[in-house]
Amino acid sequence: MAKHLVSFDDLSINSIEKIFNLADSYYDKLKKKEPIDICKHKIMATLFYETSTRTRMSFESAMFRLGGKVISSADMKSTSSAVKGESLADTIRVIQNYSDIIVLRHNHDGSTLLAAENSIVPIISGGDGEHEHPTQTLCDLYAIKREKGTLKNLKVALFGDLKHGRTVHSLAYGLAKFGSEIFAIAPNGFEMPDYVIHKIQSEYGIDVTPGKSLDEPMTENVGAVYVTAEQGQSEAFSHSLKIIDALYVTRVQIERFKGQDNETWPRLVDKVNKELLKKAKAKDDMIIMHPLPRRGELSYDIDKDPRAIYFKQAEYGVPVRMALIAALLGLADFEIQLEPKSAAKNITKECINPRCITRHEENARTKYVIVNEGKHLYRCAYCDKEQTIGNAKEPKSVDVNVML
Ligand code: NCD
Repeated sequence: MAKHLVSFDDLSINSIEKIFNLADSYYDKLKKKEPIDICKHKIMATLFYETSTRTRMSFESAMFRLGGKVISSADMKSTSSAVKGESLADTIRVIQNYSDIIVLRHNHDGSTLLAAENSIVPIISGGDGEHEHPTQTLCDLYAIKREKGTLKNLKVALFGDLKHGRTVHSLAYGLAKFGSEIFAIAPNGFEMPDYVIHKIQSEYGIDVTPGKSLDEPMTENVGAVYVTAEQGQSEAFSHSLKIIDALYVTRVQIERFKGQDNETWPRLVDKVNKELLKKAKAKDDMIIMHPLPRRGELSYDIDKDPRAIYFKQAEYGVPVRMALIAALLGLADFEIQLEPKSAAKNITKECINPRCITRHEENARTKYVIVNEGKHLYRCAYCDKEQTIGNAKEPKSVDVNVML
């Protein structure tokens, strides 16, 4: 049965470490320009329903570097049968015959799981709506590991649009998995969603301290701190930065505000720049990361600062994705292990998330994972958004396991 990468949560620590080891060897080979041809007879399809530069190009470069071939649609929304109303499930059922592995970027949350359920070839998420971006996290963690030598016991600050940014959702799971402390710093309206916080708490047993203000300096050994702040609190932001080992900056995801007048788009006032780093007395060995693209929240004036590693972070995308492709195709010297998925119940109840794939695919059946039985709190198995549903014995439910 094909193995898929739907959520970062699915990857075991052991598999991640093996992917990183293989990425190290690919990185060295690429530097030495040594040819690799283990994917000589393999075809990758890249199906992108949303814009992309790094993710699609680095996946395609990775496949070519492995000696494989690529068929690609960079603009599925306007050039594929999606224009004629074809469902994602049908598209996947067709493309699986044309390729050995599929990379999918889609605008709807949870679309990767739906694609995986309809595919006999591995599906890799290239980002699904606001939900997750697991391969970006593989690249991010790999970059941290290479630059800091470890992923354990680091203090990592996530700053920016933590609500709509899928990279920081996957990264939060990754940091929790490896035992780093997470400082989620978001202005009002951009806070990390509850479902991410609940998963970090329930699946990794991490204490999340809510509601701290940036006015209070961050303290040591907290597990995870969830911080909100009024806009423009640079003073306090800078005050807190001096204990951080890695600062991960993200842009406001403007594409999630479509339909709203440009003038009403929320903006981040705080900006990571030379002045802030100086004022904050940020550590000399703190690394500054960004999944890119940037749009104002990260100043060009720190590009030459040795702590700025965002372009290196993008460079690591190729060897890491090479290792992932090889592993999912069964061509690496290890087998990728996926964590068992939580049991989900088919419940005939619409997901509350208007962007959830189940609300856009005629054939999709809703299913939910119990978060808190007593409180009747359920999590959509596709997009992870939580809602309370009637009572625990709620309608027409059938126990099923989400098996991939
Ligand atoms: C990210 C994405 O698409 O979510 N970009 C990327 O893949 N490197 C981040 C972003 O667009 O802000």
